[in-house]
Amino acid sequence: MTWHILIPDNVDRRAIDLLTAIPDFKVTAPGNMSRAALLAEIGTAHALIIRSATTVDAELLAAAPQLRAVARAGVGVDNVDLAAAQARGIIVVNTPGGNTISTAEYTLALMLALARHIPQGHASLAAGNWDRKAFGGVELQGLTLGIIGMGRIGRDVAVRASAFDMICIGFDPYVDAHSAHSAGIEKQDTLEQLYARADFLTLHALVTPDTRHMINATSLEQMKPGIRIINAARGALIDEAALAAALQRGHVAGAAIDVYPEEPPPADNPLLNLPNVIHTPHLAASTDGAQVRVAIEAAELLRDGLLRDDWRNVVSGA
Ligand code: MLT
Repeated sequence: MTWHILIPDNVDRRAIDLLTAIPDFKVTAPGNMSRAALLAEIGTAHALIIRSATTVDAELLAAAPQLRAVARAGVGVDNVDLAAAQARGIIVVNTPGGNTISTAEYTLALMLALARHIPQGHASLAAGNWDRKAFGGVELQGLTLGIIGMGRIGRDVAVRASAFDMICIGFDPYVDAHSAHSAGIEKQDTLEQLYARADFLTLHALVTPDTRHMINATSLEQMKPGIRIINAARGALIDEAALAAALQRGHVAGAAIDVYPEEPPPADNPLLNLPNVIHTPHLAASTDGAQVRVAIEAAELLRDGLLRDDWRNVVSGA
């Protein structure tokens, strides 16, 4: 049997070459595929490799009668309708480890940029000014970093923040205090405890019914005045209107935002253009190293699953 593997998003060439070299596979990888082109092509596909640009929803699944598997080159599967895939017996796999370092390093980059107003200083100088007074910052040493979500990325952030002599505290109902301690994190029993102590807060949680809008008017009020918030996880963790209000009244001193509930964010996104917010377009995992790793791992997962029924990193469906 020939398996048709469709790769609508841009993935590293080495993953495409790995699959193309296997005689049992026919690979279609035009890159940057439009929704219309994808709908036209997916009827014969047995497997998909996607990044975040492709949404695998009920409409797409209905147009894909042969589909057996979806491999997400990345961690988040919020762009896949898991219930609809499960109902069809479609296996969904992801590559949770490949972009950990890139995302952890990017979180530190955002934290430093936030602490020292680096983007604002750059923009000011580029606009022809020489203003050394407006952008005074804070040192990280001795400040407390609150980490929500102590999985791979949260723990790697802690290791790096500890090198800056920050005190790392964390909350994660699925991680015990001993395991947190091994990453240099002092586990907090409640979010309220963490909010009361954190000078910086970084989010590394999945979006679930429990975590959606966990940063909201109520939780913001529980935070220390002057807190700075970093989100390189998922936009839906934050009630953006509530955060914008807290930034405008100065209760939150700054925010660095890489992710949005709707990507790209619409022009009326309440956080856009606030002077104390740094924005980037979902770049945390965008390094050569991470993109090579996640693409090759996704290709290997499909190869071993389709040819040997050896399914690993299964998120749903097996
Ligand atoms: C992920 O979920 O892996 C990251 O957000 C990066 C991406 O979406 O590609």
